[in-house]
Amino acid sequence: MSHLDDIPSTPGKFKMEKSPYVHNRLRWHFSLAKLTFWSFIFLGLIVVFFFRSPSSNPLLQDPSRRSLRTYNWGGPAWEKQVRSSARIRSRNGFSVLVTGAAGFVGTHVSAALKRRGDGVLGLDNFNDYYDPSLKRARQALLERSGVFIVEGDINDSVLLRKLFEVVAFTHVMHLAAQAGVRYAMENPSSYVHSNIAGLVSLLEVCKSANPQPAIVWASSSSVYGLNTKVPFSERDRTDQPASLYAATKKAGEEIAHTFNHIYGLSLTGLRFFTVYGPWGRPDMAYFFFTRDILKGKSIPIFEAANHGTVARDFTYVDDIVKGCLAALDTAEKSTGSGGKKKGPAQLRVYNLGNTSPVPVSDLVSILEKLLKVNAKRNIMKLPRNGDVQFTHANISLAQRELGYKPSTDLQTGLKKFVRWYVSYYSGGKKAAG
Ligand SMILES: NC(=O)c1ccc[n+]([C@@H]2O[C@H](COP(=O)([O-])OP(=O)(O)OC[C@H]3O[C@@H](n4cnc5c(N)ncnc54)[C@H](O)[C@@H]3O)[C@@H](O)[C@H]2O)c1
Repeated sequence: MSHLDDIPSTPGKFKMEKSPYVHNRLRWHFSLAKLTFWSFIFLGLIVVFFFRSPSSNPLLQDPSRRSLRTYNWGGPAWEKQVRSSARIRSRNGFSVLVTGAAGFVGTHVSAALKRRGDGVLGLDNFNDYYDPSLKRARQALLERSGVFIVEGDINDSVLLRKLFEVVAFTHVMHLAAQAGVRYAMENPSSYVHSNIAGLVSLLEVCKSANPQPAIVWASSSSVYGLNTKVPFSERDRTDQPASLYAATKKAGEEIAHTFNHIYGLSLTGLRFFTVYGPWGRPDMAYFFFTRDILKGKSIPIFEAANHGTVARDFTYVDDIVKGCLAALDTAEKSTGSGGKKKGPAQLRVYNLGNTSPVPVSDLVSILEKLLKVNAKRNIMKLPRNGDVQFTHANISLAQRELGYKPSTDLQTGLKKFVRWYVSYYSGGKKAAG
């Protein structure tokens, strides 16, 4: 007989005391139902708590993460790679986190640090502002010299904290940014994302790190904006930016001041002047002029009002690298710990230029000779989209305090660039654009 037969078909007539067996079965069923019910309530509460509590869900905790791509990181093998890349191999060496390591300057700086025995870990989000395959090729180059680049965004504070948990970085060389002046009219939020929000996210993690690292970061000559006093000195006004890019770099300098003042972070800003060289950026004039001259396409050469010359203080990448390393070498330690300031800390800004502005038309003449092709010049009025008429660096402060002394003239530097360009793009790689 099935136990179901014990249950009367008429509900109200059921008398529990009459059958101890039925009584026990029902109690058992009742307890099971109760248990299931409370389990559901409990599970429901956990789910509600998880999605409502900002502190338990990193995705909700940090709004900037919502717009981030997800990258694969973490795990014992990944941590081993991170540790090994950041391991110091020379006496008194540094352990440096290089942001923007797959970028033009980041690649050169990372390679130079590694060569002299410093530990180097790269971080880059490999965005597609310009051909990402060039960034991948730089990554492969660095990998061969033992530098690992973590793929991630500087706005990802969970990732940044993890990196500082795995490695006690002595220094951060912060080069990740949305570069380029004209692109700001197309995609303004990318400048705010990387150059402002990203900088704050990085400094927030640095200030809480124990020990706090010393930070050297790339500002830009563009902060001089509409300043007409030449050569540009660090004491000149920088409150008239001519582009959103310049405005975000200027904001970065003010943000650096705040983190230095409140948290005792040691911060050095470097105002680079038009950096060029092998593995360069395809969005920069010397690069796309080379590409277009070789393709027989015409190139725009800008002219200011009244046929005014447009000139740039072109600086060869090896000179910039020397300036970056000197800034790291002379950076004092941050004074805070665990987010608390313990005393005043170093705050510096330097121009890193070449002190000899060259008219853009002269740049084209040098390229014509090196490429043995005549350029089709298209003289145009300088558009009002952020470019300034000239840049010219006064580098006496960097000379005095960093021992910075640029030594490559434009002719020599472009020769090296053209040699790299021809060999890189004749190796089956298609020139971007
Ligand atoms: N090259 C120049 O002439 C020049 C002049 C003045 C200032 N700078 C500054 O120097 C630094 C390096 O410039 P570059 O010429 O090597 O530019 P780059 O674009 O080649 O390098 C920047 C790198 O940062 C990465 N990046 C951007 N946003 C990121 C983010 N949110 N998270 C992680 N990675 C991110 C990019 O993928 C790129 O690889 C930048 O800060 C730039 O503004 C460069």
